[in-house]
Amino acid sequence: MPIIWESKLDTGIDVIDSQHRRIVDYINDLEIAKMKGDKAMVTDVIEQLIDYTQSHFGFEESMMEEAGYKFIKPHKKVHELFIKRVTEFTMRAAKGEDIVDELHSMLAKWLLNHIANEDRDYADSVKQMVGPAAAHHDVVTAKAEARSGFISGLLGRFFR
Ligand SMILES: [Fe+2]
Repeated sequence: MPIIWESKLDTGIDVIDSQHRRIVDYINDLEIAKMKGDKAMVTDVIEQLIDYTQSHFGFEESMMEEAGYKFIKPHKKVHELFIKRVTEFTMRAAKGEDIVDELHSMLAKWLLNHIANEDRDYADSVKQMVGPAAAHHDVVTAKAEARSGFISGLLGRFFR
């Protein structure tokens, strides 16, 4: 079953919400690749998902840092553990083990839970810092803005 985005997953920071939606798209693509039995596509999607998620985590962490979020350390740790877990899956896959089902369900559960809980928690600090209006810019708008802007400056560092 593909994951359908629900508004309860929104943090209220548009740029973060669009990144989260993209990660969910990757998880859904992984399911499609799995159902098709397309091994090349599976590998490709996993690679892209890891790459994108790492950029996203970096982006989030810098945002938390600049907003002075007090639980940044444990949040970073949670990101680190997640990457470690996913890396373990890729190592098992490299040895020829079929990990796709297990990986897919871990990703779906872990990310949705993380977005709904830990990410929602830092969002309040960030929104307070940038102001509610600045939080409501989508990626395109944020990119088009002055490079000195809080969010757009961060975007330039992690995404092109
Ligand atoms: Fe996070």
